Amino acid sequence: MADSKTVEIRIKRQLTPDGPSRRETFRVPLRPGLNIIGALMMIAENPVTAEGRQTVPVSYDANCLEEVCGSCAMVINGKVHMACSALIERLDQPIRLEPMSRFPVVRDLQVDRSRLFRDLQRVKAWIPIDGTYDLGPGPRMSQREQEAAYHFARCISCGSCLEVCPQYNDQTQFVGAAVLGQVRLFNSHPTGQMNAPERLEALLGPGGIHECGYAQNCVEICPKDIPLTQAISEVGGQVMRHVLLGFLRK
Ligand code: FES
Repeated sequence: MADSKTVEIRIKRQLTPDGPSRRETFRVPLRPGLNIIGALMMIAENPVTAEGRQTVPVSYDANCLEEVCGSCAMVINGKVHMACSALIERLDQPIRLEPMSRFPVVRDLQVDRSRLFRDLQRVKAWIPIDGTYDLGPGPRMSQREQEAAYHFARCISCGSCLEVCPQYNDQTQFVGAAVLGQVRLFNSHPTGQMNAPERLEALLGPGGIHECGYAQNCVEICPKDIPLTQAISEVGGQVMRHVLLGFLRK
């Protein structure tokens, strides 16, 4: 900490997707309960570095400010974290902020997570209930099934599990744990099961579940404590059964 009333924040900056990166240091007043987003808002109000040089405000994504939307994930002191729930007083100082490394940088701390959303599309991570007429009530789920599914429904697509996955990088097409968790969720839903074969088929191709190295970093870092390794095991079993049934039907 620079002194007892301010906190020093060192930020990796990159003004364009392909441009060079540099570090800038800022000092902001330390207030009780201040989080990283609050500190970034203060910097935006007065974008002057610790050396007194005028600069441009730091770009970052944030929306819900209550760890629900997942948009504010960034690397804080070397570890991916939601900026809205990262309290300054709990962090080692000076604080270092960097964009996530597994997604292309848009600007400063903003990254492009399109790959994650494309992969969710690839496995049809939804339940097809759209229609122009009343489809009627869906099938009932037992309390036990609902509780089991709820863990996976808590995913906020922040990408933290992908940031720590050794198999997820620009050389691979691995879909990663977040997507496998959603396959587990939708394949267990009575209506979602209708598309289970398509989801499992998608996981047989490039970037599918066979590319998981089972490092288990995903389950350690998940901010929502989703049992991701359980999802990977269960979906792996489903893929195996799907392949065997395919052989038997030939
Ligand atoms: S702003 Fe939504 S998770 Fe942080």
